[in-house]
Amino acid sequence: MKIVVLKDKKAQGQAVAALFAADVLTNQHPVLGFATGSSPLPTYAALIDLYKANVLDFSNVTTFNLDEYVGIPAAHEQSYYTFMRENLFTKVNVDLSRCHLPNANAADPALECRQYEQAITKAGGIDIQLLGIGLNGHIGFNEPSDVFPDQTNVVALTDSTIEANTRFFASRQEVPRYAMTMGIGTILRAKKIVLVISGKDKAEITKAALQGPIVPQVPASILQTHHNVVVVLDEGAASLL
Ligand code: F6R
Repeated sequence: MKIVVLKDKKAQGQAVAALFAADVLTNQHPVLGFATGSSPLPTYAALIDLYKANVLDFSNVTTFNLDEYVGIPAAHEQSYYTFMRENLFTKVNVDLSRCHLPNANAADPALECRQYEQAITKAGGIDIQLLGIGLNGHIGFNEPSDVFPDQTNVVALTDSTIEANTRFFASRQEVPRYAMTMGIGTILRAKKIVLVISGKDKAEITKAALQGPIVPQVPASILQTHHNVVVVLDEGAASLL
């Protein structure tokens, strides 16, 4: 695991965008794995800048997002589909038909989960996967548990995650209780993983994930077993290492 500590979120975004840019520039058919939430925003801003500066061309890119809420339509202002459209997809020349998020409201969720896995495989696997981490150590929406789920699946969100997500909704009542998420196995099958963590409030979980035992109660700790992980921290997140 390579750990990089940078001054602030802007520097983190530029570093992570540089890692993604390398894949876009070097692969014939880049397959990028994306995340939502606050952590990836500086990365998306930096990728948009590289596109506007004519450095990056996204026309050949395929994308897969980690997760999507169950129970709100894709057009909802807080869906991850809307998030990705607003923060990246409509700002670069990516072909929207090659941008994938799990269809969390599919009539047959188990079938949708299997098809999501198949679509990733058919695309050749994910070249580089972006991750944030929850305060409870989740990656994607793989919450602390007694097992590491392998494949894309539907999960019940924990109270801590619902609490953290309340900031995006009018009230706690409106926060979705379930999500469809890539499994831990899906994430680990990515050829390269970039975990970005900012802020002192994540210092404890950062330490547990990077230096603690590998246990499903801290889902991100499994990343210690992957052969190609870059962790990009700011000084706050790194403060207990
Ligand atoms: C988002 C995702 C989550 C977030 C995590 C951190 O697609 O899968 O695991 O990465 O909850 O969220 P932020 O970055 O908002 O602190």
